[in-house]
Amino acid sequence: MSEQFTIRRAEPDDDSLIAALVVEGFLDKFRPVFGRRMDHSVKIMQKWVGLEHASGGVESLVVDSAAEIVGSVGIRTAESREDVLARGLWRTLTRNLGTPRAVWATTLLSYPRYSWASSEAYVERLVVAPEFRQKGVARGLLAAAEDLARESGKVTIGLHVSGQNIPALRLYEDEGYEEVSRQRSLITGYFLGIRDWLYLRKEL
Ligand SMILES: CC(C)(COP(=O)(O)OP(=O)(O)OC[C@H]1O[C@@H](n2cnc3c(N)ncnc32)[C@H](O)[C@@H]1OP(=O)(O)O)[C@@H](O)C(=O)NCCC(=O)NCCS
Repeated sequence: MSEQFTIRRAEPDDDSLIAALVVEGFLDKFRPVFGRRMDHSVKIMQKWVGLEHASGGVESLVVDSAAEIVGSVGIRTAESREDVLARGLWRTLTRNLGTPRAVWATTLLSYPRYSWASSEAYVERLVVAPEFRQKGVARGLLAAAEDLARESGKVTIGLHVSGQNIPALRLYEDEGYEEVSRQRSLITGYFLGIRDWLYLRKEL
């Protein structure tokens, strides 16, 4: 990663920019989830990121270039308060989407299924703005996430990736991550075009 980029811990004011990056980076996944309510997606994601920081055991890192945030990643190093997280997310979804669409969104967003392990950090929503890709930003973020995991006393780090996300799979493979399990979902296969979710892990 070149010197024009700086990695730092995210602050609460960054939540809306992280949300916008995530929605842009995962448009293929979010369009079928939010449907005609896509204009609410950044607001929902911002609330979700805020909830993860407050009750989800997750910390975020961001990459600055000039005055702009051009990449971000979330790292879970503590167990989440699932009840608070789920209640908060459900409230946001129903307020923004209405109950039927919220049920639908919750179903699709519940994949891939994740189980917490105390010795393992978990990487999520790694994303780089399209115009800043293939400059080493994600590699830098991943290395910083691994440092954070080591500082938290973790012995391994894990993440989910969809089976056809070639850029991400190349990056993880290159950085020493190995597949440990695979989930198959007919629902996400049909509606998101993602049938296989791979769980990858690396020893720290
Ligand atoms: C996946 C993603 C985070 C990569 O970000 P990036 O900053 O472009 O990645 P880097 O520049 O750090 O690339 C590191 C390595 O990843 C691989 N890679 C990145 N983009 C690639 C592409 N388009 N095709 C093939 N390999 C690619 C290469 O191995 C690359 O190493 P190299 O530059 O030595 O060839 C980015 O494409 C993105 O935000 N995608 C949308 C969100 C997403 O899918 N996130 C991953 C969720 S699991």
